[in-house]
Amino acid sequence: MTAGLVWTVVTAVWAVLPAYVPNSVAVIIDGGPPIDGGRSWRGERLLGDGKTWPGFLGGTLAGLGLAVALNLLRPALAPALPSFPAPVAVTLPLGAMLGDAAGSFLKRRTGRERGARFPVVDQFGFLVGALALSLVVDPGWTLATFTPTVLLVAVVLTPLAHRGTNRIAYRLGLKGEPW
Ligand code: CTP
Ligand code: MG
Repeated sequence: MTAGLVWTVVTAVWAVLPAYVPNSVAVIIDGGPPIDGGRSWRGERLLGDGKTWPGFLGGTLAGLGLAVALNLLRPALAPALPSFPAPVAVTLPLGAMLGDAAGSFLKRRTGRERGARFPVVDQFGFLVGALALSLVVDPGWTLATFTPTVLLVAVVLTPLAHRGTNRIAYRLGLKGEPW
């Protein structure tokens, strides 16, 4: 790998970390009152029991905390990596959890039970949510950070990271399915 590609990969991983971590933290928190309050729409749950308030809020706060930690580490670690301005330190994790919930909304509308697979939506829902909300709130930062090459690397790495972390969570007994 050329140094340029290594740098692009490092930048992509760094920039998406505050959007990746909320999901894993939500899996660990696991449980609590469902966001949809148990309500159904057209015979199916609005979101389902897999989307809880503790998972949503805990995941969002964990991602925010991670963005703050990365900001603090950055000067010593690699000053050339992007810092996370306050708005995107919120929108990356919040958008990720909203995208994840939107994915569950789509799964219920298409008759998929909690935990059922929905390729593409399962892997990319949170990334799309994180980037879309960040683009709205801080378009300058989002476009400058997620250049076409960084975005391409993030899109390639996301399903791999998703699969890896979900398998680990399954083996640890944190998740009912390995996807
Ligand atoms: N989780 C949570 N609250 C959230 C998101 C996730 O409590 N807002 C927890 C739940 O315990 C959930 C687990 O993380 O079961 C795994 O998340 P995910 O795979 O997204 O949920 P599923 O249970 O597969 O449900 P769905 O089919 O709606 O995606
Ligand atoms: Mg799932």
